[in-house]
Amino acid sequence: MGWPISHSLSPTLHRYWLKEYGVVGDYLPFAVPPDELEAALRNLPSQGYKGVNVTVPHKENAMKFCDELDEPAQRVGAVNMVSVTESGGLAGRNTDGIGFLENLRFGSKWQSGDGPAVVLGAGGASRAIVASLVDVGVPAIFICNRTHSRSELLADFFGKKCTATRWLDRNAVLGDASLLVNTTSLGMLGQPSLEIDLSDLSSGAVVNDIVYAPLETRLLAAARAHGNPVVDGLGMLLYQARPAFQTWFGVMPEVSDGLRRFIQKKLDH
Ligand code: ATR
Repeated sequence: MGWPISHSLSPTLHRYWLKEYGVVGDYLPFAVPPDELEAALRNLPSQGYKGVNVTVPHKENAMKFCDELDEPAQRVGAVNMVSVTESGGLAGRNTDGIGFLENLRFGSKWQSGDGPAVVLGAGGASRAIVASLVDVGVPAIFICNRTHSRSELLADFFGKKCTATRWLDRNAVLGDASLLVNTTSLGMLGQPSLEIDLSDLSSGAVVNDIVYAPLETRLLAAARAHGNPVVDGLGMLLYQARPAFQTWFGVMPEVSDGLRRFIQKKLDH
């Protein structure tokens, strides 16, 4: 469920897995305007659905209509999946953090104890990512956002390992980082590019962009040229979907090279 929804890759992704695992079922895009979200969610049990993923702009609002929420959803303040429970209630979860961490772990040699992380952006995606970095014990997290008050809110919420850093200082904090993550919309097709100077970044630091259209953003190209290991944003989309597929269709699906190529082709169209 999203508004709009036609751009979503999730139906393509889940249908790929349904076919691969021979599961009889379907996964449909629902265009739901904000004022119809409550009814759309509350009707799920009686319509026989197992659940839905929710995306922009519903991730925060959908929480209000859930009867239970998992811990990441409560901390992040947003859900990305809502399942119908056995008793006909609605259970909200947030798997964005799992998707982010698994993408990083499968896509690089990064380990949480390697050193500080620099997170660019302080929106919803950043919140899920900072929460997961805190959870796995990253020693220090610098949150750097154009609107400083949003970084401060996030840093205050997630505790003393987090430091709100001014947008102007984004180059200066790179020196000790072992991980740099872009969670802003900068670099996305149709958006301005991310201006950042990687000179001070150690060449062992992993650079991850959660933007996946285009897959090779200017940030990733610059990081590659600087000698850094890079992780693109497509994997986060793929890995966050696995728990949903398992919950609704009974199989924990794999993120195979074939799946990546298939989704990449769709992105190129
Ligand atoms: P999401 O939920 O996907 O994270 P969001 O809440 O709209 O989306 O957040 C978008 C992020 O991109 C924010 O950190 C935003 O910075 P602001 O908080 O200052 O708005 C960042 N962003 C968007 N356009 C930007 C720009 N031109 N320069 C710097 N940061 C930008």
